[in-house]
Amino acid sequence: MNMKTGLIIGLAVLAGAGLYVFTRSNSDSAGSGRQDVAAPTQQAVAGEAMAEVKVPALEGAALMGERAFNAKCASCHGKNAAGQQGVAPPLVHKYYRPGHHGDAAFFMAARNGVRSHHWRFGDMPPVKGITEAEIKTIVAYVRALQKENGIY
Ligand code: HEC
Repeated sequence: MNMKTGLIIGLAVLAGAGLYVFTRSNSDSAGSGRQDVAAPTQQAVAGEAMAEVKVPALEGAALMGERAFNAKCASCHGKNAAGQQGVAPPLVHKYYRPGHHGDAAFFMAARNGVRSHHWRFGDMPPVKGITEAEIKTIVAYVRALQKENGIY
């Protein structure tokens, strides 16, 4: 091979090596931990209900509980306890079935607040000025909703 061909081959090898280093460093930086951030597959709209809730005919304590719930809990947990995107979870949810969050959990939550553990909405503050009797009716209401929606 003459000098000219040698030079061309030499340059081609150099260019190839350069390209290899370039693509490698590029894919490295793209892979540096960014996979951890899962891309949302569905856009959550703030304030939107998180559960589809069928509402049964309410009576007695459950009916009173609906009123108390709307006054003291619905601003966060949403209408019919269906939750609100970006605010607070639905209470009509299998997490809160009686066997997993007994009635005592509702009294504790309302009285003392809740440190965020199941979701990423932040802590629930204590609900000021709520009475035991009100919480009791709220529990009856939420349990009635849960039952109607197959959560027990
Ligand atoms: C300021 C918003 C806000 C209000 C008002 C609110 N909650 Fe909550 N609540 C939350 C959030 C957020 C969570 C989720 C905490 C977590 O990540 O587990 C929660 C969780 C709960 C839980 C689950 C407790 C546990 O042990 O995991 C119960 C029960 C509950 N709320 C009941 C109520 C009731 C009943 C009312 C009304 C008397 C109420 N909440 C009012 C925000 C609120």
